[in-house]
Amino acid sequence: MHLQPIPIICLLTTITTWLIHTLLQRQKTNKYINTDRKPGEWIPSNFKRPRAPPYPEWDIHTTKPIPYRPFKHGPKNTITMGLRRMKWDEWIELDNHYLRYHDDKARRIKERGTRCSRTAPEAMDAAMELLEELTAYLPERYPSMFCKTATGITNTITQETFNTTRPLREDPMQTCGRLIQDDLALMLERPDGEYYLLAGTILLAGFWRLEDKYGMRLSDIHTSGSVPGFREKLEKGMGNFFRRMRAEDPVVRNNYFIQVDDNLAWSSSIGSEDSGAVSWNSAEKNRAVGCHFFRSERQSLRRLPRTGAVVFTIRTYFEPVTALAREPFVPGRLASAIRSWGEDVARYKGREKYGEVLLEYLDRMHEVQVANGLDLEKEDEVSNYPF
Ligand SMILES: *[C@@H]1O[C@H](CO)[C@@H](O)[C@H](O)[C@H]1NC(C)=O
Repeated sequence: MHLQPIPIICLLTTITTWLIHTLLQRQKTNKYINTDRKPGEWIPSNFKRPRAPPYPEWDIHTTKPIPYRPFKHGPKNTITMGLRRMKWDEWIELDNHYLRYHDDKARRIKERGTRCSRTAPEAMDAAMELLEELTAYLPERYPSMFCKTATGITNTITQETFNTTRPLREDPMQTCGRLIQDDLALMLERPDGEYYLLAGTILLAGFWRLEDKYGMRLSDIHTSGSVPGFREKLEKGMGNFFRRMRAEDPVVRNNYFIQVDDNLAWSSSIGSEDSGAVSWNSAEKNRAVGCHFFRSERQSLRRLPRTGAVVFTIRTYFEPVTALAREPFVPGRLASAIRSWGEDVARYKGREKYGEVLLEYLDRMHEVQVANGLDLEKEDEVSNYPF
């Protein structure tokens, strides 16, 4: 049998169209990536963050934390970065837990200093840019708490005034950390084209310590924490994503963990913060469900326009599992999600230590909801990822 000429022409046309399309696409992307720059160099972008409107009716006493419930029914074990576009106004989220976070952070900076909050000399300009960005954004978004001054910013509720002109009185990352509820990390590209964690203020991260990751390459941070599926599925994509990221395209993702103690700053059940290696192996098995806490993280990523550093914000929300389980559909969905974790995810998240107790409890709470008339057909109408 020989091929008819018309199908061959069709095929050729298709291939040519595809090639042209791909090349055009690539050129378009290249313009955005600005490949004229050498790795490790950044041509300042003239992008300016749009002015943020005040957070609607924000109040330090009444604005509740956003109830992220970032899990879906199994089986869906896909490992992805799970990124969504971030709305500029929503860069930093503050709520009525602010003062507790603020005081915890101040205490941690005092107790642990540079072990949990520091800036490498080569990242100093980037840290200053981050401080300037926060100093500009916070008074726009939270005018009832922040006020811009000639030399920096004032928190009118805690009565702190920060002078952000050099020479600074403290590490700029520490000041950044005092302003918001989030932990922060700055990743900088070096001439080898890789991203390195060169500044951070990691005060309430629960499971990881800045001192273990400081100065590390992005990919080593994940492999050293044995993030499941990272090598196989995420490493290359993440590197490319960082290199191509534009100052105008911020993203967010959500994440969650279970913890079997009530310590927001450091989950002591995996070991003392001052011990060498920490691991789920040291956690007590089958603790009562009253000791189970739900830790959800909202992470944002953006590139700073002037220095080109990538800012990673990590906002932790923390509450007892028993509180979550009262919400319609949540115990059923959380149980299903936890059951759907693959072996590697389950190991990373320590399921062996609490799975039995937690799943038994969540199933029971789900049954109570169903017995009380929960309409399972309605779940899609009321729950929308990540809520
Ligand atoms: C702010 O800090 C700079 C540099 O340390 C100093 O020169 C200036 O007087 C300070 N301004 C105020 C208002 O404290």
